[in-house]
Amino acid sequence: MMKERKEIFATAKETAEAFGDYLMKEAGEKSVFHCALSGGSTPKMLFDYLAVKYRNSPLWNGIHFYWGDERCVSPEDAESNFKMTKERLLDYIPIPQENVHRVLGENDPEREAERYGQELLEYLPTHKGLPVFDLIILGMGEDGHTASIFPHQMELLSSEEVCRVAVHPDSGQKRVTLTGPVINTAHEVVFLVTGAGKKEKVSEIFNKTGEWESYPAAHISPEQGSLVWFLDEAAVGK
Ligand code: 6PG
Repeated sequence: MMKERKEIFATAKETAEAFGDYLMKEAGEKSVFHCALSGGSTPKMLFDYLAVKYRNSPLWNGIHFYWGDERCVSPEDAESNFKMTKERLLDYIPIPQENVHRVLGENDPEREAERYGQELLEYLPTHKGLPVFDLIILGMGEDGHTASIFPHQMELLSSEEVCRVAVHPDSGQKRVTLTGPVINTAHEVVFLVTGAGKKEKVSEIFNKTGEWESYPAAHISPEQGSLVWFLDEAAVGK
C-alpha cells in the first residue's frame, strides 16, 4: 500500500533546501543509496544548496546518482540535465566518478534507452525484473508531465521497458526517460513542485477533479513505497 504525504513551504528556495536536508538524512541511513535526479528549476536550487551545505560530506561516497530523464543532446549542451547538475553540484563535491551514472544523451536515443536500462539493472537491486531506486526525484511540468512522460505519450506509463525514448510535444526534442513501472517500483518518489504555474494541475490531481487522469504525474503511485510532495505555497494556491 502506498503512503502519501505533502510538505508545504513558504518559498521555492525553502522547499528545495528542506528537501536537501531530507535527502541527505535518507542517504545517511543506507551504505549505498541509489537516487534518480531530475532537470527543472527547483533542482537547480537544491543543487546549489547541497553544494554549499554538504560540500564535504562523507555521505557522497555511498550515493549513486542517475537521471530520471535526460535530453538527447551532448553533455556540453545548455539543455543537458547532466551539465546543469555537474556545474551546480558535482564539480564541488567529492563524489566518486563511478557513482555518477549519466544518460549518454549524445548517442542514438533508441540504443541509449536500451543501454541505460541495462546499466540500471546491473547497479540496482531488482524487483519483478525492474530496477528499484531508493529515491526518485521528479518535477511536474505545467502540462502535467513528469520525468519526460508527456500527456501525448501516456503509454510510457505502462511500458514494460526500463527506459524509453520520449518526444517533447513542442520542440520535438528526443529524450530518454524512466517508464512508469520503474518509477512506481521505487522505495520513495518525491515530487518537487514550486511556482504558481503549477497550482491548477496540483489542485486537480490532489482533488481528482477536471482532467486529472490525463496528467502523467497523477499516475505516479509507488506500489510498495511512499510518495512525498514537496511544494511551495504558490503551487498549492496560497
Ligand atoms: C526535465 C524534467 C521535467 C521537469 C519538469 C518540471 O528535464 O525537464 O525532468 O520533468 O522536472 O518539467 O520543471 P520545473 O521544475 O522547471 O518546473
